[in-house]
Amino acid sequence: MKITLTKQFILRCFLISFFLSTPLIFLHLFSPQPITNTTTKDLRIRPGYTSYENYIQRQLNKTLNPKLRKIWTTRDWNRKIPVFARFFEELKEKNLLHNTSKALCIGARVGQEVEALRRIGVNDSVGIDLVPYPPLVVKGDFHNQPFANDTFDFEFSNVFDHALYPNKFVGEIERTLKPKGVCVLHVALSRRADKYSANDLFSVEPLVEMFKNSDLVHVRSVDGFGLDTEVVFRKKLKQPRTL
Ligand SMILES: C[S@@+](CC[C@H](N)C(=O)[O-])C[C@H]1O[C@@H](n2cnc3c(N)ncnc32)[C@H](O)[C@@H]1O
Repeated sequence: MKITLTKQFILRCFLISFFLSTPLIFLHLFSPQPITNTTTKDLRIRPGYTSYENYIQRQLNKTLNPKLRKIWTTRDWNRKIPVFARFFEELKEKNLLHNTSKALCIGARVGQEVEALRRIGVNDSVGIDLVPYPPLVVKGDFHNQPFANDTFDFEFSNVFDHALYPNKFVGEIERTLKPKGVCVLHVALSRRADKYSANDLFSVEPLVEMFKNSDLVHVRSVDGFGLDTEVVFRKKLKQPRTL
């Protein structure tokens, strides 16, 4: 008699907890989960992106804004191209960029930096962005570049802060750069970038760690549209396979 009562009690408890927890389990399974991503002391992924689609949509909201696109292709065009051209001329003087370099600009929006490269004689230059702007910029996600391995001699980007997956951003650069190819990043270390950024960087250390297959060439201060630091890497030669 006592055993039967205990069994009934256990069964009742089980049923109550089952009915109470089922809606919670469904809620957990079908509600958007925040992106989980590596965050370190000096590189913090911003919270709030509930899915990759949500991140892309947020970027597109700004990039596709017709009023802003008008400004970027008129007033900003003549203001920004000479500044980019000066940066690239300095890199040429340091033998990090040549007229014969095949160059890629990552997150180039309407391609001001690509136009600057072409104006200083680096003719084989193109940009990628989520939104194409032909003929300067083709469509491409920098987390999954639409190019074969070992394609470029030179890659430039001032949008590292827009990477939701910084490791993939860097991995794709190292994949598509030729051995000995040069990557130039303009980043903000001393001030926070805009509300469309997906990460905050506080030192160059996380970059040095992520560029596993490259050597650090130089770090210097620049004044590049709110970005204060230029970090340059050179991809290592492929290691010969040991027998
Ligand atoms: C701050 S704007 C920089 C534009 C340009 N580099 C300049 O200096 O004028 C950031 C750009 O990154 C692009 N972007 C953001 N996420 C991207 C992604 N996952 N793949 C490619 N481009 C992306 C945006 O569409 C936007 O055009």
